Amino acid sequence: LVLVVDFGAQYAQLIARRVREARVYSEIVPHHMPVEEMLAREPKAIILSGGPSSVYAEGAPGIDSSIFTSGTPVFGMCYGFQLMAAGLGGTVARTGSREYGRTPVTVGEAGTLLADVPSSHTVWMSHGDAVTAAPEGFSVLAETTKTPVAAFEQVDRGLAGVQWHPEVLHTEHGQAVLEHFLVDIAGCRQTWTMVNIVEEQIESIRAQIGERGQAICGLSGGVDSAVAAAIVQRAIGDRLTCVYVDHGLMRSGETEQVERDFVAATGVDLRVVDAEKQFLDALAGVSDPEEKRKIIGREFIRTFEAAEAEVLADAVTGEGGDKVAFLVQGTLYPDVVESGGGAGTSNIKSHHNVGGLPEDLEFELVEPLRTLFKDEVRLVGEQLGLPAEIVHRQPFPGPGLGIRIIGEVTRERLDILRQADAIVREEMTRAGLDRDIWQMPVVLLADVRSVGVQGDGRTYGHPVVLRPVTSEDAMTADWARLPYDVLETVSTRITNEVEEVNRVTVDITSKPPGTIEWE
Ligand code: XMP
Repeated sequence: LVLVVDFGAQYAQLIARRVREARVYSEIVPHHMPVEEMLAREPKAIILSGGPSSVYAEGAPGIDSSIFTSGTPVFGMCYGFQLMAAGLGGTVARTGSREYGRTPVTVGEAGTLLADVPSSHTVWMSHGDAVTAAPEGFSVLAETTKTPVAAFEQVDRGLAGVQWHPEVLHTEHGQAVLEHFLVDIAGCRQTWTMVNIVEEQIESIRAQIGERGQAICGLSGGVDSAVAAAIVQRAIGDRLTCVYVDHGLMRSGETEQVERDFVAATGVDLRVVDAEKQFLDALAGVSDPEEKRKIIGREFIRTFEAAEAEVLADAVTGEGGDKVAFLVQGTLYPDVVESGGGAGTSNIKSHHNVGGLPEDLEFELVEPLRTLFKDEVRLVGEQLGLPAEIVHRQPFPGPGLGIRIIGEVTRERLDILRQADAIVREEMTRAGLDRDIWQMPVVLLADVRSVGVQGDGRTYGHPVVLRPVTSEDAMTADWARLPYDVLETVSTRITNEVEEVNRVTVDITSKPPGTIEWE
């Protein structure tokens, strides 16, 4: 275990991922966690992340200097580097010369940390103050024009640091430097692999659920719930039941993918609830986006809870009042970090008004992906033999096509959109572009009509909007510059094959100001 101490900037998650890419398991802890508590977890090494631009700034977070003399190897990056320098008697000066962005660095004596790194290379910097004198006993390894001490180490104490950000993509040789610290200075073993994750998870799920426990998992068609379910299935077999609510708002082929391909790959016990009519009835006459979302959310919970109650009816009326009901959720590590949570488990209450069950049923949550990043979840999915269409599926909103029809949602309109969307996905796959874009909503402007001409006749149909975007986290996005020939094929096919559509448009708005979805 390597702990990454988060000093409040955006970098800690990225560092934790890079450490795992070096096949060493890492977790993030907040900077206010007492040093004894960190050490009690017996980490092989501790990494101090970047943070505010100055250790002298008002309210700048610090760390008890005992961390540097505990015997546990420590690596400081950027702000963490300055904390280490200051904490061990070096000098951090307000030089007044800032360095931001790409910066050339010159390596002197490379030492262990910068071994085999070219003497001149480019790194990514973001700092105001600079270390002007290293603490006693440290070797200075690199400098820039504005920073006399840009990297240092004291290998026999397991201490090292760099002023730059080795974790970001723009830093050359960043991963090599990180691995030199982890392996050559801290002595970490590179054993964190997907095979190990799967095996460890199966063990701990078995321990949590016990011999008699019964678990239930809602499948959405997305990668997280699918991978979570597949691991739990490996652990407890048919004591897991999956529920898939078919709300009728999925894209073409997606329900079949879950019903057929997912079940074939995992052997999971699946109950599909066909609730299309219920959802469409509830949505009749509604065109306000938020209203649609509320209705879909409400109907979803109702349907899922009824199914859940049926599945668990036998289990919870078992003897002794033991807790035998478990709910599997695909919570990921970034959610855990962002909600300030730790490694523990939590319970949730579910309210039932179905005969034979206690009104409030307490579930213990099973969250097998709680320690994983999204890219790791995909690797685990591959390891478990899940179909590529599920493992690499792009994000898709819970309310499905319900929020991609501008206007009232009806069966006919859904069918039109499903046809257009299927063509788009087929052509994107054919062009090999699936992994280059983040997602590509297709939107039906159902309340808008446009005039067209087909053959000799005038048509009065609907436009569709293509919304291809690139993004890293959906918080911001840019419109994807798709090749014209792909757009041309898509446009021709949609207008030829989907009778009701006579116009194809492309949305070229970034987010902000636009959102990714149209509703
Ligand atoms: P926006 O449209 O807000 O979308 O830029 C950001 C990301 O969130 C997805 N999205 C949703 N996901 N329920 C969901 O589960 C929703 O109501 C919802 N609305 C948007 C969207 O697809 C994109 O990935």
